[in-house]
Amino acid sequence: MLVTDGLIAAVDPTAKVEKLSAARKAEKVDVAGRVILPGFVDSHTHLIHAASRAEEYELKIRGVGYEEIARRGGGILNSVKKLRAASSSQLKRRARAALEVFAAHGTTTIEAKSGYGLDVASELKILSLHKELSAEQPIEIVSTFLGAHVVPAEFRSKKNGPDEYVKLLTDWLIPEVAANGLAEYCDVFCDRGAFSRGQSKQILEAGKQHKLAPRLHAEQLSHTGATRLAVELGAASCDHLEQINAADIRALAKSNTVAALLPGCDFHLGLKQYAPARKLIEAGAIVTLATDYNPGTSPTMSIPMILSLACTQLRMTPAEAVAAATINAAYSLSRHRRIGSLEVGKQADLAVFEVEDYREIPYYFGVNTCWLTMKNGQVIHAA
Ligand code: NIG
Ligand code: FE
Repeated sequence: MLVTDGLIAAVDPTAKVEKLSAARKAEKVDVAGRVILPGFVDSHTHLIHAASRAEEYELKIRGVGYEEIARRGGGILNSVKKLRAASSSQLKRRARAALEVFAAHGTTTIEAKSGYGLDVASELKILSLHKELSAEQPIEIVSTFLGAHVVPAEFRSKKNGPDEYVKLLTDWLIPEVAANGLAEYCDVFCDRGAFSRGQSKQILEAGKQHKLAPRLHAEQLSHTGATRLAVELGAASCDHLEQINAADIRALAKSNTVAALLPGCDFHLGLKQYAPARKLIEAGAIVTLATDYNPGTSPTMSIPMILSLACTQLRMTPAEAVAAATINAAYSLSRHRRIGSLEVGKQADLAVFEVEDYREIPYYFGVNTCWLTMKNGQVIHAA
């Protein structure tokens, strides 16, 4: 591969590339016998949060359910309390450390959602951090506004509080986010204990009016009809999908809305029902895989671990899993013309693995075989 000005200028057998005149003065990176993939594109993360929820992890192991913890005031609201109390620089320091771990596992682009602020100042603080971090470190960050993660505590105690919060999002926060160019996408957690299908529709339509393309947390804990809504709205993706039915699968297969599968959540929460990846693929849906990096349901930055889960739990082949976490993910972020595959003219975003066969990447589960990561032709991680 020949890289010029951060772009792929040639991909061919070594002897052929070395004959190109631009190759003669090029700096050589010898990857001898290792496997090169496009840098991973992680299309679903909750990058900015203040702390882990390891205390809840132990409760879950002892048998207390995720939703029961949320009803007791833990869960997302626990993270909201911690984020509101944290300074921008504390949040940035934690996110920067996480971004280095993403890079060390071969990821070169991530999507990042707000959603642990849930008031005007805190949500804007998170989205501004996406922008600052994008400028200050090499991993590209695609920003998504998730003000509709759950109804914050101060609106729950009021009569009509949830409706007032939806109004705050549609009439004030979404226009503000869009006017300041702080997000490309708008997401809603449409589920039991979060937002209804009707509320989700209102919020995503307001987002669309302000040029924020919809994404949706859909059918994770219960079946709400969120998948059908995502398809109707022409959403870029609908994510989770553990509870989808046959009609949802058919609707997704006929659409350009990407089915984003997040098996890290089921693994971390110890749930048995993974999304029906095989049925989705066989029906013709576009499937992606992502970490869903977040403190409550999927505390991992490792796409290789997600590939392992996709292979053993979702029964995806290693090739399907790699495509899901690269070119399909790039498509779901509307960046498939620039990233997601190693082709002439695309960005030189790539990851090199210390393996002889690409199937060994998911095969060695829980082991990081990433040897080198490159973003726009610059080495950003070397083992
Ligand atoms: O993608 N489902 C909603 N949001 C996150 C979890 C948030 C949390 O528990 O902190 C998810 O799983
Ligand atoms: Fe999520």
